[in-house]
Amino acid sequence: MTTKKKLIAGNWKMNGGIAANDALVRAVVAGLKDAACTVAVCVPAPYLAQVQMLRHGTPLELGAQDVSSHEQGAFTGEVSAAMLKDFGVRYAIVGHSERRRYHGETDQLVADKAKAALAHGITPIVCVGETLAEREAGHTEEVVKRQLAAVVHANGHCISEIVVAYEPVWAIGTGRTATPEQAQQVHAVLRAQLKAATEHAGRMPILYGGSMNAANAASLLAQPDIDGGLIGGASLKAADFLQIIAAAR
Ligand code: PGA
Repeated sequence: MTTKKKLIAGNWKMNGGIAANDALVRAVVAGLKDAACTVAVCVPAPYLAQVQMLRHGTPLELGAQDVSSHEQGAFTGEVSAAMLKDFGVRYAIVGHSERRRYHGETDQLVADKAKAALAHGITPIVCVGETLAEREAGHTEEVVKRQLAAVVHANGHCISEIVVAYEPVWAIGTGRTATPEQAQQVHAVLRAQLKAATEHAGRMPILYGGSMNAANAASLLAQPDIDGGLIGGASLKAADFLQIIAAAR
């Protein structure tokens, strides 16, 4: 389990611009030569074409930050999995806490989005995580299990093709990281839940996200059930992102 290739995915969120993306992607690609892990950047939809060109012929994988649960049609503002596929997208984040919180995304919608991505050969990075209030009330396990259960239920045997990201809401963008032990504890719970659903659970990546940075990446990634990271702020600086990538071996 510990020898499988790790996955480091950058989540740019609503950041970037033509010039900044160009500089960032070029610098990341230049530093990828001896990367022992898989590396992806999940970019805002308008920049998929730009980053697709920049990454062409390199090991950098392309990701989106969301995907519609619908196939096509009258859904103004939505982007379908087929459209993402047209731009060489390999991963799509679904159920990020910012979308659950600011866009009212439910467990069922997140499950449907994961299903839409899988139907087009895109790997959904399914985010789960508790708020501070939920943690303090002792509900962490119950919350993450409920969030993951919806995705497991909707996706049947395809569940082995997803990536899970544990992102405690209180750690996102706050500089307050979960300790390696806190993270590992939840990752083990998620692994057990996946094991009950598929014989392939051991090879499925479970990422940690939430203020992962160059200084704390190695200790988090050393945990037996932490198979990579979903990196927000630190993925916007090539040097920081590359240091996290270097720690993922
Ligand atoms: P952060 O964000 O690394 O800036 O905390 C992680 C995420 O939200 O995916």
